Amino acid sequence: MIFDLDLDRVRNRPGIKWERHGNDVLSAWVADMDVEVPSFITEAVIERVESGGLGYGFYDEPIPVLEAFKNRMHKAFNWEIQTSDVIRVHDVIQGLEWAIRTLSPVGSGIVVQTPVYPPFYSTIEASGRYWVANPLLATEDGWALDFDHLESVAADPEVSTLLLCHPHNPCGLVMTQEDLAKIVDIAERNDLVVVSDEIHCDLVYTPHRHVPAASISELASQRTVTITAATKTFNMAGLRMAFVHTESERYGPQLKEISTRMIGGINGLGQVATVAGWEHGDDWIAELVAGLDHNRHLLSDLLSELLPGVVYRRPQATYLSWLDCRELDLGDNPAELFLSRGQVALNSGLDFGPEGTGHVRLNFATSPELLTMIVERMAAAL
Ligand SMILES: Cc1ncc(COP(=O)(O)O)c(C=O)c1O
Repeated sequence: MIFDLDLDRVRNRPGIKWERHGNDVLSAWVADMDVEVPSFITEAVIERVESGGLGYGFYDEPIPVLEAFKNRMHKAFNWEIQTSDVIRVHDVIQGLEWAIRTLSPVGSGIVVQTPVYPPFYSTIEASGRYWVANPLLATEDGWALDFDHLESVAADPEVSTLLLCHPHNPCGLVMTQEDLAKIVDIAERNDLVVVSDEIHCDLVYTPHRHVPAASISELASQRTVTITAATKTFNMAGLRMAFVHTESERYGPQLKEISTRMIGGINGLGQVATVAGWEHGDDWIAELVAGLDHNRHLLSDLLSELLPGVVYRRPQATYLSWLDCRELDLGDNPAELFLSRGQVALNSGLDFGPEGTGHVRLNFATSPELLTMIVERMAAAL
């Protein structure tokens, strides 16, 4: 069982998730999972270390990790790509900032579907652009994109970019092929670049499925820059390895103008781990998603029993849940109270933008026992 965890081992695991708040606190905040990194990855990394092969990797194709990326996109999403259209970077946010700085004019507007992963805001602001909110709609069937509002903000000549979090963190929305077609159409009519962060692409619950934004049509491939990684899937964010892909004849050459010195050489162990994950990870991913699916339903049960005032729309993807605590009347930042009174570390909704007032983000990638303890402590805090 993937979430059959040794609680002591999890709690003493080095890293920000469990170290930041100390041993008495249950951590359900940053997006790392309480699972063991699969043995086919640790063994590949150990083997590389023990072989002494820690020198320079290859600069020229064929580069194993690019081949692995190409094969994975084909196998998982039926998406045909060329390795020459892919650039290795250290992490997704580096790729995001680079795409924004390269492809959008300074001072231009970048549309985000809010609430959204906090570094989207900081990256846009640090690059001297401004973000434009297109708030997600809470519907009976879950979260949805507001296309009428998107049409109106996209028409502003100051707006240059549509930034997608696909699947969406923190709401877990999976955009469908039809959604993506509408987005590409809006981008095409308003001459916008689509930058799609697809780091959560493997963690999607049936019947939903991930469709890479760039894969849906020739038009989409010419409008889209995709940024992704295997690090979220295999719980190895510390190994730093990600990819920027575009087939666009316009954006590709612009992105490639950056000197390789500015990106830096990419961590060899991150590449070894990524190749091992994508070559051997299918069964493990299926087991992981089944375990997360169980937890996503367990969380519904726990909340309706212990915290009925919390509104939770089960995510269609990711191991993150977006909890609306406003009915509990805990003020703007309930995470503060859950930490101080309940000894549970969650993410404050305030970091995810204006819609985050009175919300928290809870990471349910843990054992069912721990998840139960987390919600029990939250309830006890009240
Ligand atoms: C949507 C999204 N993008 C990017 C990242 C971070 O990726 P990286 O560590 O590769 O920058 C995360 C991490 O949680 C995320 O949820």
